[in-house]
Amino acid sequence: MCGIVAYLGKKEAFPIIINGLKRLEYRGYDSTGIAILNNELKVFKKAGKVSDLEAYASPLDTIGNIGIGHTRWATHGKPNDTNAHPHKSGNSRLALVHNGIIENYKYLKSALKELGHHFDSETDTEVLVHLIEELQKRDDLSLEDAVREALTRVVGAYAIVVIDKDNPTKIVAARKDSPLVIGIGNEEYYLASDATPLIEYTKKMIYLNEEEIAVVELGKPIEVKSIDNIIQSPTIQEVDMNIEELEKGGYDYFMMKEIHQQPATVADCMRGRINAEEGWVHLGGVNQYEGKFTNASRIIMAACGTSWHSALIGEYLFEELARIPVEVEYASELRYRNPVLTENDVVIAISQSGETADTLSALRLAKERGALTYGIVNVVGSSIARLTDAGSYIHAGPEIGVASTKAFTGQVTLLTLMALKLAKLRNTISEDYYRQLLFELKVIPKKISQVLSQNEAHIKYIANEIKDKTNALYLGRGYNFPVALEGALKLKEISYIHAEGYPAAEMKHGPIALIDENMPVFVIATNKSAYEKIISNIQEVKARKGYVIAIVIEGEKTISEIADHVIEIPDTVEPLVPLLSVIPLQLLSYYIAILRGCNVDQPRNLAKSVTVE
Ligand code: G6P
Repeated sequence: MCGIVAYLGKKEAFPIIINGLKRLEYRGYDSTGIAILNNELKVFKKAGKVSDLEAYASPLDTIGNIGIGHTRWATHGKPNDTNAHPHKSGNSRLALVHNGIIENYKYLKSALKELGHHFDSETDTEVLVHLIEELQKRDDLSLEDAVREALTRVVGAYAIVVIDKDNPTKIVAARKDSPLVIGIGNEEYYLASDATPLIEYTKKMIYLNEEEIAVVELGKPIEVKSIDNIIQSPTIQEVDMNIEELEKGGYDYFMMKEIHQQPATVADCMRGRINAEEGWVHLGGVNQYEGKFTNASRIIMAACGTSWHSALIGEYLFEELARIPVEVEYASELRYRNPVLTENDVVIAISQSGETADTLSALRLAKERGALTYGIVNVVGSSIARLTDAGSYIHAGPEIGVASTKAFTGQVTLLTLMALKLAKLRNTISEDYYRQLLFELKVIPKKISQVLSQNEAHIKYIANEIKDKTNALYLGRGYNFPVALEGALKLKEISYIHAEGYPAAEMKHGPIALIDENMPVFVIATNKSAYEKIISNIQEVKARKGYVIAIVIEGEKTISEIADHVIEIPDTVEPLVPLLSVIPLQLLSYYIAILRGCNVDQPRNLAKSVTVE
């Protein structure tokens, strides 16, 4: 949540920062701002998107070679011009942008008020810049020492970047629980919340570690110290990403591009990790901790949002194939109760961004209790990837649409590989079934392409029928129950239609009371094991005049006669069905949202990387 970009060099800072903020808009998009230093400190702020700020500030004097920018997802105070970052110190000498939350800001604010400070905004961030100013003045400290002193008094999470009118060639940055990357150019520096705004300028980056403070100064090497003032030796990494991955590539929205990338991203996730002919699955992270995994008393999967739905599918896979007990936890709930966690447990954190605050704190707790921690992450070099003992990247490439699509199928693919690997190690799977699953996995990318190419026109038609509804129900059994949850989440997130996902059999314990001719019911009915039962569930909906859209295996006859619409997917083995059955649901929510005039990439109130708890 919230994106930060900063520049220090010889070029014009304003266009670089605007461009970078556009790349980070997935992190928040309710208000934006930029501060430019050029003898004086000029601050431009606007409620709305980066393009609104650009339109407002472009005709003004934005000249200058050092600047900081911010795109906000409001926590403290409404999204308006005043609450937008950057915030200035009372003496207008400093400007600061912040991603995170200063939890003790009320206490600090009243102490600063007593010292005569006056605040313009309702934000926690403004308090921090006043605190730095106060310490700088009181103890005659350098900018970096004042920042460090201030941060020792702060409780909460932060990635901050500060500039100072009296130090026009210097930027000070720090992080704790929110990410920050420094890009090293040719006699110039770029800073951002992630690598995406930087890769068009440089591939050389430093990922700041927890509680580190960096001093970035023209003509000098970057200096990184810990918050307790100990010099660190930062590692410069080469980031392997190219600019095309960050463009829409001819699609109207990133979400549509990402839906259509899935045949490739699922294949990329498996590349080099599986050989169906030779019958092996290779996952470096699991190999490294083979003993821990095979002897684990149980596996706990912690995640949020869509990643939590992947975890649920992981539970079905691990229990069926590898016979290891699995508990799936909302990371926020795991963290804030007192769970029983021991060194015999393995905790798998699943996260697209690798930055979700709740998932990170659940991981820290798991580490404290001695459990082995494993990350299933998309963003390379992210906090979760670095915090865990081992892990596997899903290799889906940058996911920019706020509603997760290709990360979901990547996570499910990776969990399938893990379940197969563990099943083999634990000898809980027959050779025939193991081989069948490997061969089926290999052809899944082709089958996803088939779902995408064969159903689009029909899905658009159904979307048009549904677009004016106010509620929807999603039902599924077994592996398709988490898919029902994911289908409902996709619809809520981007079209603002209220939707619920339920295990199909649970419908009769409540949701059935809601069914009438105005209630669309999406039934993911590809199951072979409970086929008759799912047919009965559909009959129960139809008997109450519900409008049924069923996802079925191609060639299916019975459901096709009862349902109002069917969408066919190719046949596969049951554990792999989610990789296919979710695709029509992603497309349906996309088209419904488009028909309702919604911005599918930036749905209201949401952000992609949720760095607050
Ligand atoms: C936000 C996003 C979701 C995502 C969830 C978890 O809510 O909008 O798409 O599933 O965070 O994010 P993570 O990066 O941890 O997978």
